[in-house]
Amino acid sequence: MDMRLATKRAQEASAGARLLDVLARFTFNGAPTVCLREGDLDYFVNEFWTAGQRQAHSLHEVSYRACFKPQLPEFFISRLTGPGASVYDPFSGRGTTALQAALMGRRPLANDVNPLSGLILRPRLAPPEVESVRERLQAIALNGAEIEAEHEPLLAFYHRETLHHILALRSYLLGQEASGATDRIDEWIRMVAINRLTGHSSGFLSVYTLPPNQAVSPGAQRRINAARCQTPPFRDLRAIILKKTRALLADGGPPAHPGPLVVTGPAHRTPAVPDCAVDLLVTSPPFLDIVDYASDNWLRCWFAGIDANSVRIDRHREIRAWEGFVRLSFLEFARVMRPGGIVAFEVGEVRGGRVLLERHVASAIEGLPFRTLGVMLNRQEFTKTANCWGVTNNRGGTNSNRIVIAERSPCA
Ligand SMILES: C[S@@+](CC[C@H](N)C(=O)[O-])C[C@H]1O[C@@H](n2cnc3c(N)ncnc32)[C@H](O)[C@@H]1O
Repeated sequence: MDMRLATKRAQEASAGARLLDVLARFTFNGAPTVCLREGDLDYFVNEFWTAGQRQAHSLHEVSYRACFKPQLPEFFISRLTGPGASVYDPFSGRGTTALQAALMGRRPLANDVNPLSGLILRPRLAPPEVESVRERLQAIALNGAEIEAEHEPLLAFYHRETLHHILALRSYLLGQEASGATDRIDEWIRMVAINRLTGHSSGFLSVYTLPPNQAVSPGAQRRINAARCQTPPFRDLRAIILKKTRALLADGGPPAHPGPLVVTGPAHRTPAVPDCAVDLLVTSPPFLDIVDYASDNWLRCWFAGIDANSVRIDRHREIRAWEGFVRLSFLEFARVMRPGGIVAFEVGEVRGGRVLLERHVASAIEGLPFRTLGVMLNRQEFTKTANCWGVTNNRGGTNSNRIVIAERSPCA
């Protein structure tokens, strides 16, 4: 083999070895990583990142169902990539991986089957100034929108005047979109509005309801209102959007980073992502049928003009079908990953720890050009003595991430 190629391959192959070394040597408050083998999988157990760690960048502070903490992608990005490297999340959600990549000067690549994901991520990769948001909010006329019969159910969430304002903002944004006039200030306002639609405090546009990443139906909201003897109070839409804008921008914007790629589609078919383009992939797919993203996001989709019924979100009750979905996704990852690149595939805990999704990932990707390096178990409140690392005994409600680590094999 040509010497240059041999050296290049050695370098490429080293990411997995480096990561295993990092995991094995890692200590948290003096506690070393527990390394175990169960079946044919190696487990690395420790508190690799914690809730108590340095606060994440303010731009991450948007809610999304089943999102992971920025510390998770940060762990891999900082250890496995250098500035300019390409970091991809094919199930991007609110875009935690891509935003963290941008914040660290890497190239963010993101995909999600729901177009809502891109609307939430893109504006935070290149945020506008607070002052231009304030001016734009003033310039948008918020009066004059009619509450049509189809909007009446929304009065379960909103004061009539607030709903007028929401409808006016929505029709302004959809009008801008239709005429191709949307700019990054509009995109920012839409992103913040999407995130303020419902929630449990006066920082949201709605009356008290479930957390902002889980919109209930109008009927369910009427029941919540009756139980709590509440009616929706007036909320000042401009003030709420401006306040959240200030909070999101408290730490400033991302530094200069290579241009992002944000696409919409199923993770197994991403033609916009070039071959061998990805150095590191950090992601978290839907876990079986645990979360109903479509119903959680119905109000956000409505506001953004997305037909939620047309979005094919993967939900699988049957483990075999889920494995098929994982395998298909990894087939596409094999195309977009560079040889030696690392996939960190977070599967969390499901069904009270009775179904170990990491095992199913490992068997789903058998025969594909990936080498499974092991499973990281990030456990908070981890104790060495608890039997032990909880792979078979993890029903106690501790907060753990299970991350399958796989290395893209060198090309034959
Ligand atoms: C667990 S969430 C990801 C959350 C993300 N890690 C974050 O921090 O926000 C899973 C995401 O997968 C998306 N999704 C579901 N089926 C998909 C598919 N076939 N292809 C791409 N994305 C899909 C959902 O819309 C959802 O946003």
